Amino acid sequence: MNYLKVKSTICAILLLCGTASQAQQKKNKNVIAPGAEWKDTNKNRINAHGGGMLYENGVYYWYGEHKIPGRSEADKAGGGAHCYSSTDLYNWKDEGVVLSVDYDNPDSEVAFGCILERPKVVYNESTRKYMMYFKLYPKGMGYKYGYLGVATADSPTGPFTYSHKFLGADSDEGSGDFALVKDADGSLYHFTVRKPDKAFVVGKLNKEYTYPEGKYKVMTEIPAHTEAPAIFAKDGRYFMLGSGSTGWDPNTARAFVATSLLGPYKELGNPTKGVNPHNGMNEEKTFGGQSSYIIKVEGKKDAFIAMFDVWAPEHPFDGRYVWLPIEVESDTLKINWRDEWDLSVFGK
Ligand code: DGJ
Repeated sequence: MNYLKVKSTICAILLLCGTASQAQQKKNKNVIAPGAEWKDTNKNRINAHGGGMLYENGVYYWYGEHKIPGRSEADKAGGGAHCYSSTDLYNWKDEGVVLSVDYDNPDSEVAFGCILERPKVVYNESTRKYMMYFKLYPKGMGYKYGYLGVATADSPTGPFTYSHKFLGADSDEGSGDFALVKDADGSLYHFTVRKPDKAFVVGKLNKEYTYPEGKYKVMTEIPAHTEAPAIFAKDGRYFMLGSGSTGWDPNTARAFVATSLLGPYKELGNPTKGVNPHNGMNEEKTFGGQSSYIIKVEGKKDAFIAMFDVWAPEHPFDGRYVWLPIEVESDTLKINWRDEWDLSVFGK
């Protein structure tokens, strides 16, 4: 090879390396892209649907439904609860399935074939246990009896051991979508939609967070058929985000505000606005999503993120996540569509 040839080969290699590293940088940039495919740090698609978040010692833990690839909801896609961890809310490390359905024992209450949805984890300071809750419908009975399943662990990444279930809501048919909110005094409240009349109710759990203590109260000011509740507190106000009840199909989001956790709540209407370019759906259909949880961003003032799921019941593993910042102005909420965003939207 003559001198010129060697030089041009080196230049070509350097150019290629440069382009590759630029592409890598682009890939690694810290952004949230609502509705786009989201991969974990191993480059696998994140599998944590209907999720919730726990924050501890600088780490966020994202728990969600593990969907078995290749199966539909009708064909038992539910594999348990999957956990991912992150220190920045952008990059998620796979911590594995931390509560699995039982593939071996058909008599188990979480036997493969049961419906296990919307896992949420809360830490109990007095028992020092991580408590996982999830909607649990026994195998072979569809959505007829809605239990709240309970599993416990000694660490946020589990493994969680299934403990028991209860119907909740003082109803023989149980409850459905729920939010669990810890009040300032450590009391844990179960907000849920009662079956079969779909009244919205709230009940207090006992000190161990294992069973309801006393009766549930019907929150008459929240319209019946409100599902997918997610609650956060800011400056003495409690805000709740929810949806209507249309199975896996999206509907219009609804929001509420109160000065006390247990209400009464005032209706704020639909806080969402904009179009999700991935499916063409606008605020009338909540960008094609349904709420699951509201993340409090640690270290930032008044920073909250609404988590929604874009369900895909025919192939639920492909369901997408829509995370958007919440703008709170005194008693109002706004959730505007953004194609891409980062935590700088919340200021320094
Ligand atoms: C809506 C709920 O929010 C989901 O968790 C799931 O249970 C679907 N309904 C099932 O149709």
